[in-house]
Amino acid sequence: MFQKKKQIVIHSEREFEGMRAAGRLAAECLDFITPHVRPGVSTEEINRLCHDFQVERGATPAPLGYRGFPKSICTSVNEVICHGIPAPEHKLRDGDIINIDVTPILEGWHGDSSRMYLVGEVSEEARRIVDCSYRCLMAGIAAVKPGAKTRDIGVAIQEIAEAEGFSVVREFCGHGLGREFHSEPQVNHYDDGRPGTTLRKGMFFTIEPMINAGHWRSNILADDWTAVTIDKRLSAQFEHSIGVTDDGCEIFTTSPMGYTCPPYR
Ligand code: MF3
Ligand code: CO
Ligand code: CO
Repeated sequence: MFQKKKQIVIHSEREFEGMRAAGRLAAECLDFITPHVRPGVSTEEINRLCHDFQVERGATPAPLGYRGFPKSICTSVNEVICHGIPAPEHKLRDGDIINIDVTPILEGWHGDSSRMYLVGEVSEEARRIVDCSYRCLMAGIAAVKPGAKTRDIGVAIQEIAEAEGFSVVREFCGHGLGREFHSEPQVNHYDDGRPGTTLRKGMFFTIEPMINAGHWRSNILADDWTAVTIDKRLSAQFEHSIGVTDDGCEIFTTSPMGYTCPPYR
């Protein structure tokens, strides 16, 4: 839904270096914020901390002002699928699950990553969907290699989500990135029946499956950004930025702290 360019950029080894640095900063930001995600903290405070972390390291938060988005990160709590807007009055509560999505621009390169965080003690279903959404991301990544199709990614993700009784969001997809925030290819996280794009070494894109406990469909709130599940049930998402290599892919946004899937400790 975000594509701007029709042609897909093939990146050189030097350009991998640029994405490594931007991706690492995104991952460091998500590591840094981890101890701050607890009951009582506002999503605005999380936004401020992530904004300052990035700016202090010479980066610019890509979401700020992007198509009118008002904040520097997205904070998507519980039934919010994606693009939740941080707000001072929105304080996290015991039992919440939250996706924090950051995209620092460093030296012109966009490092886009998100993770789920558990706030206090969460329900069994919350833990299950968070865990499942992480496994969906990693299964999608495992399908990436030169010659594979973007469809292979969606098939791998959908199989895992549906085996658990969950559904895959269709209205939002992974996307090419690099010097652009959102470009080709579009990466669907479900099987839409089309082969999609044939992957080639040097392509950069995200995989960011959104997994719902109930129906896959979303509604957009009156703020024109916040996407919520139609049945108000939980949604969970993890996102990595990756580059296609000779025999698979390189993940640019791996956590230096080893924070893969919660609980983080
Ligand atoms: N980071 C989100 C993504 O994964 C995009 C956020 S766009 C914004 O593609 F404007 F909402 F910030
Ligand atoms: Co993204
Ligand atoms: Co993102």
